[in-house]
Amino acid sequence: MQIDVQKEKLTLGERLPAHVGIIMDGNGRWATKRGMPRAFGHRAGTERLRGIIRISSDLGIKALSLYAFSTENWKRPKAEVDALFGLFMEYFTNEVEELHANNVRIRMLGEKEGLPANVRASVIAAEEKTARNTGLALNVALNYGSRSETVRAVKKLAAEVAAKRLDAEAIDEEKLLAALDTGGLPELDLLIRTGGDQRLSNFLLLQAAYAEFAFVDALWPDFTDELYMGVLRDFAQRNRRFGGLK
Ligand code: IPE
Ligand code: IPE
Ligand code: MG
Repeated sequence: MQIDVQKEKLTLGERLPAHVGIIMDGNGRWATKRGMPRAFGHRAGTERLRGIIRISSDLGIKALSLYAFSTENWKRPKAEVDALFGLFMEYFTNEVEELHANNVRIRMLGEKEGLPANVRASVIAAEEKTARNTGLALNVALNYGSRSETVRAVKKLAAEVAAKRLDAEAIDEEKLLAALDTGGLPELDLLIRTGGDQRLSNFLLLQAAYAEFAFVDALWPDFTDELYMGVLRDFAQRNRRFGGLK
C-alpha cells in the first residue's frame, strides 16, 4: 500500500520523533522459515532499507540509526559474517548515489578499525561524499557496541585531560554524550526492535535513557512501510514525562 506521507505528516504534526533507532532483527529466522540459507534473509533485509529510509526522510525525521552489525556478531560463523560484509559493500557501493541525491548524510556508528579494509574504505567514502548534506542523518551501526562506544568516548576525554585541554572536573553529561559516536545528533526518541525479542543487545544504551520502546513481532524483512507508520502513530500518542508530572 502506498503511504501518503504528506497526510501522515499533518496527522503526526509536532509528535514526530527527532531520532529513531532500529534494531533490525529477524533476518535469519525469516530465511530459515522459507528453507533458505540465512544470507538470503540478510539480502531480503537490505531490501527493506530503501522504504524505511525514504519515509523517515520524507516525514522530516532528523536522524535514523540502524543497527546492522554488533560487536558481538563476530561470534557468528565466518561464512555468515562474510555474507553480511559482502552485502554492506554492495549497499554502500550501489545506494550512496541516490541517498546523496536525496540530501541524506551518512555516518557510521561503531569502530572503523575493526572493519575489513574494503568496507572501511567504502564507508569513509560515503561519509565524505555526504558530509555536507543537510537532510536525514542516516547512521549505520557497524561493528557497533554501546559499551565499546562508551570506552572509546571515555578514552577521548581522558586524552583531552592528559593533554591539559580539559579539566577532569569539567566533564559533565553533555561532554560525555558529545564524545559518543552519536555526538551532535538529537536525543534518541524512539527505539524499535523487530523480530519479537525484547532486549537492547548492546545498542545505544546511554542514548536510550528516555527513549520510547517499540518491540515488534514482525521479522525485519517483513517490517513494511505500513508497520513502520503504525509504530510512529503509536509513538505520537504516548505520554512522555521525563521524570516530571504531565
Ligand atoms: C539481524 O538478523 C541481522 C544481524 C544481526 C546482522 P539476525 O541475523 O539476527 O536474524 P535472527 O535473529 O537470527 O532471525
Ligand atoms: C542485534 O541482533 C544486532 C543487530 C540487529 C545488528 P542479534 O540477533 O545479534 O541480537 P541477539 O543475539 O538476539 O541479542
Ligand atoms: Mg537476531
